[in-house]
Amino acid sequence: MKKIKVGIIGCGNISPIYFQAGQKFDILDIVACADLDVSAAQARAEEFNIPKACTVDELLADPEIEIVINLTIPSAHAEVHLKALEAGKHTYGEKPLAIDLNDAEKILALAKEKGLLVGTAPDTFLGGGIQTCRKLIDDGWIGEPIAATAFMMYHGPESFHPNPGFLYQKGAGPMFDMGPYYLTALINLIGPIRRLAGMTKTTFPERSITNDLNYGKTFSVTTPTHVAGLLDFENGAVGTIITSFDVWGTKTPHIEIHGTAGSLIVPDPNTFGGPVYIKRENQVDFVEMPLTHGFTENSRGLGVLDMAYAIFNNRPHRANGELGYHVLELMHGFHIASDEGKYYDVKSSCEKPAPLSMGLQKNALDR
Ligand SMILES: NC(=O)c1ccc[n+]([C@@H]2O[C@H](COP(=O)([O-])OP(=O)(O)OC[C@H]3O[C@@H](n4cnc5c(N)ncnc54)[C@H](O)[C@@H]3O)[C@@H](O)[C@H]2O)c1
Repeated sequence: MKKIKVGIIGCGNISPIYFQAGQKFDILDIVACADLDVSAAQARAEEFNIPKACTVDELLADPEIEIVINLTIPSAHAEVHLKALEAGKHTYGEKPLAIDLNDAEKILALAKEKGLLVGTAPDTFLGGGIQTCRKLIDDGWIGEPIAATAFMMYHGPESFHPNPGFLYQKGAGPMFDMGPYYLTALINLIGPIRRLAGMTKTTFPERSITNDLNYGKTFSVTTPTHVAGLLDFENGAVGTIITSFDVWGTKTPHIEIHGTAGSLIVPDPNTFGGPVYIKRENQVDFVEMPLTHGFTENSRGLGVLDMAYAIFNNRPHRANGELGYHVLELMHGFHIASDEGKYYDVKSSCEKPAPLSMGLQKNALDR
C-alpha cells in the first residue's frame, strides 16, 4: 500500500501519541523527527524506532518528507508551519493554529500560494463520540439545533504538566488551550459563528506546580484564566461557553446541544469516544445511544491521516486551516469583547467539515 512520509517537529509531552499514530494508521509513515533540543528527538526516535533524528532544518531539507507534524509549543507554531510550507511540505500542527491572527493569515496565504495543505488539531471531533452526535443531529433526532452549552472548568494543568508555565502565557490560558476542542466540536455539530460576547478574569497572578516532577515551583500568569462567552451561530442557534483554570470542581456537562425536538449530551470533546445521551420531546429521561462510528480510543493523529487521504484522493481535509483560523478568531474574539465591553463581530467563517462515513476499515479512512 502507498504510504505518505511524515516528519515530526517537537518531541515533547504530546508527541508519543503521534508517533503511535504513525505505527497504527495505514498510510502514515513517520521517517524522521526533530526538536530544538536534538537529544529529545533522539530519545523519541529510539523509543519509537524512527530511522532519523535530526535538526529542524535537516528534517525540512529531506525531499522524501511530504507532511510535517508540528508539535512545538504554541508560540512556535506559526514559525514552524511557515518554514514547513516554505520547504514545500504540507503541514499539520497541534492547536492553536498560531497565536496571532496575522500569523495564521500568513500561513493560510502561503499554503494557498504553494498549493499545499494546512491542518490543525483538534481532531477529536473525528472520533466515534462526536461523529455519532453529528449523525444524530444530521438525521434530525433533536430537530433544528437552537442552543448549546460548553463548559471546561478545572484548576489548571499544573496538576499534571511538568512545565505548565507556557499554558499561562499569551496564546494559552483556558480558552486558547482547551477552547479549540469545544469550539471545533460546536462548529462541527452546529456550524460557524458570526458574533460573540465575552467576559474574562485573571484570578491568581502567580501559581505553583502541584505535580511530583516540579512540585512547588512557582510561575507568573499573564493571560486570563476564566473566560465566559456567548456565541451567536450563523444558523441562529445561541451558545454559552465557559473555560476556566480557576475552578476547584464542577458538575456541569462538557457540551449539550438543544434542538426543537430534543436534547443531546455530547461526550468530552478532548476525547474520541462516548458516551452519547439523547432525550427526545416524548421521552421521560436521557437514554444512552450506541456509537455509530469507530476511532473511539485515543486517536490523535487522525486529522493527519485524513489530510494524507485528502492528498492522495484530492478531496478536502476536515481538520483544516480555515476551521482552525475561525476557531482562533473566536478565541481572540471573547478576549476582545471583554476588553472593549461590546459584542465582537466575527469576520471569518468556515465550512462544516464533512461527516465521516460509517463502517470504515479499522485505522483507515476512505475505504
Ligand atoms: N501535553 C498535552 O497533554 C497536550 C495535549 C494536547 C495538545 N497539546 C499541544 O501540543 C503542543 C505541544 O505541547 P507539549 O505538551 O508536547 O509541549 P512540550 O513543551 O512538552 O514539548 C514541546 C517540544 O517542542 C520543542 N520546540 C519548541 N519550539 C521549537 C521550535 N521552534 N522548533 C523545534 N522544536 C521546538 C521543545 O523543545 C519541546 O521538546 C502544544 O501546542 C500543546 O497545546 C498538548
